[in-house]
Amino acid sequence: MKASLSKPDNAYPICFHDGNFVSWEEAVIHANCLSMRYALSVFEGIRLYRQPHLDELKPFALEAHVDRLGRSLALMLLPDPGISELDSLIKDLVIKNQIIEDTYIRVAVNTINFGELASPPTPSLTVTATKMGRKRWLAQGEKMKVSISKWQRTAELAFPSAAKNISNYAGPRLALQEAIAAGYDSTILINHEGYLCEAPTAALFIIQDEEVVTPPLSEGILPSITRKTILQLCDLLGIRATERRLRPADAYLADEAFLCGTGIEIAPIASFDGHSLKKMAESPITNKICQAYFQLVRGEISC
Ligand SMILES: Cc1ncc(COP(=O)(O)O)c(C=O)c1O
Repeated sequence: MKASLSKPDNAYPICFHDGNFVSWEEAVIHANCLSMRYALSVFEGIRLYRQPHLDELKPFALEAHVDRLGRSLALMLLPDPGISELDSLIKDLVIKNQIIEDTYIRVAVNTINFGELASPPTPSLTVTATKMGRKRWLAQGEKMKVSISKWQRTAELAFPSAAKNISNYAGPRLALQEAIAAGYDSTILINHEGYLCEAPTAALFIIQDEEVVTPPLSEGILPSITRKTILQLCDLLGIRATERRLRPADAYLADEAFLCGTGIEIAPIASFDGHSLKKMAESPITNKICQAYFQLVRGEISC
């Protein structure tokens, strides 16, 4: 079967790839390079939001994303291909593609040389842009049916959870496929002790008795930038928020819950394993957080 390199409709045509601005079709790496052989590729997803009062686009939390990318590179023992240039590269990408709407920017550091497992890696930066408005949870007001997976998030002693490397998505993908096949929209991976961790590409919050709770980073989850932002927003809004270990039963008994992340933004949850959440119809606290989140990313408030 021949895979098509043709640009998907929602992708912008100009990419930054290995030192140059090139067409979508030219942003390719060799099938036998270290990224492909050993899954050596760290990445970030960053959203650009329209700033209505400035009539321009701005990356949300760019500094935090560059910081996390730097930590992923360090954890994976990969050299820095020049990530401090990302701010200006993204600005150039916006101009070259004439981007004017909310957009998802994917930044990847691939290892493009040939070699073996211990060969010195040659890092290369690729930045692509894709049109991305609200996902259906916010666009259509749908709520997620979520399962608690039998699959575990990779243990900290098997792989560093703070490294946003593509290999860390292979197991969660299996968990997600299994959940979708069973009629769910997403799933929560657990850790080796059975505590809740996160969804395959999003952090978890539950709300119980007007307290917002999320699993601590020590559970072996990705240090999500949206998760941290929401904890800060709760502080701003005067909502009690805590990082605490959660069991599946805590999720079943929650009043409300939601997933959050750069791509999904905020996705309210209706049920876990078929247990409907008591306040899922009104979701008063989720709605309040969601409203503040969009004010923040559009530059209308700060925290
Ligand atoms: C495993 C995982 N957890 C959580 C998140 C949410 O992180 P962030 O809020 O930084 O996008 C992501 C998305 O990047 C992710 O891949």
